[in-house]
Amino acid sequence: MSKTYDIALIPGDGTGPEVVNEAVKVVDAASARAGIGLEYTHYALGGEHYKATGEILHPQTIEKIKGHDAILLGAIGHPDITPGILEKGLLLNLRFALDQYINLRPVKLYEGVYTPIKEKGPKEIDFVVVRENTEGLYAGAGGVLKKGTPDEVAIQESINTRKGVERCIRFAFEVCRKRNGKKTVTLCGKTNVLTYAFDLWERAFYEVAAEYPDIKTDYAHVDATCMWMIKNPEWFDVIVTDNMFGDIITDLGAMIQGGMGIAAGGNINPEGVSMFEPIGGSAPKYTGQGVINPLAAICAGQLMLESLGEDAAAGFVEKAVMKAVKDDIKDLAAGKMGFSTSQVGDIVARYAKEL
Ligand code: IPM
Ligand code: MN
Repeated sequence: MSKTYDIALIPGDGTGPEVVNEAVKVVDAASARAGIGLEYTHYALGGEHYKATGEILHPQTIEKIKGHDAILLGAIGHPDITPGILEKGLLLNLRFALDQYINLRPVKLYEGVYTPIKEKGPKEIDFVVVRENTEGLYAGAGGVLKKGTPDEVAIQESINTRKGVERCIRFAFEVCRKRNGKKTVTLCGKTNVLTYAFDLWERAFYEVAAEYPDIKTDYAHVDATCMWMIKNPEWFDVIVTDNMFGDIITDLGAMIQGGMGIAAGGNINPEGVSMFEPIGGSAPKYTGQGVINPLAAICAGQLMLESLGEDAAAGFVEKAVMKAVKDDIKDLAAGKMGFSTSQVGDIVARYAKEL
């Protein structure tokens, strides 16, 4: 083995452990073929751990996690726990603590996968969203006054720093340069209303763009972006946007690429440790039944290999997924795949070794 990577596994809640098992199966098959090795350390974090110990994420655990080469995460969210506690305490905490300032979400429709957009196919639906991942409305700035009274005031502010915005935009141009696409970066904002925040974004965008004369620029308001993603998805190559808008448009993106069964993303710190995850949640109603689709987690594994610079192994995973969705798995929805969760993992792993 030429190289071994040290991976932190956070299977998490609900169906997270089931899909992470299959991702590991496939990533291991592809890596072995590419002549690299992966070693895993399990972190028992999530709702059950919180219920048992009262602890969400110990600062020492964060320090340990920082020592790995990458993180593969299943899902966070537990039906017994008030929404927000685990999401903020675990997922957002990790994103922020590890300064994973990019959320990279490919929106790519593979042949054989159903899209609800009539007359659009794999040729038209192939772009990536670069979402800022540590600022904006997610920064937690604001506060509440007179809670629970008729005079209650709630303020939630969007934080946009020149540094945060600029590094995100620069990353988007770099992604665009490497892609074999239309060589266009589209800024998705709301310059007509959010005239402070998106004025900063717009100026930073065109200043950074000047360093990339080989790449075209475009701009769309976020509402119009939603419209074009459905009507003319082929217009997009790379979309760069803030945290909140990125959260929203990537759920839309997931739907046009075949649903939560296949949508994956990477929380990336280009100078540090990155974390890869299926976009979908913990799916409590499917937990333990072996019916959840592991492809999103498998695709997260592919993104992880890419980000580690292991393009050959990542390519084996993508080819295997493409073959499985074209020839084997008829429907990507949970319970409708025609196979169990682990059978899908077996099929993709076999292709990852052979194709
Ligand atoms: C996502 C999720 C998270 C987000 C939640 C669970 C905090 O929706 O990864 O898109 O809003 O970023
Ligand atoms: Mn989301």
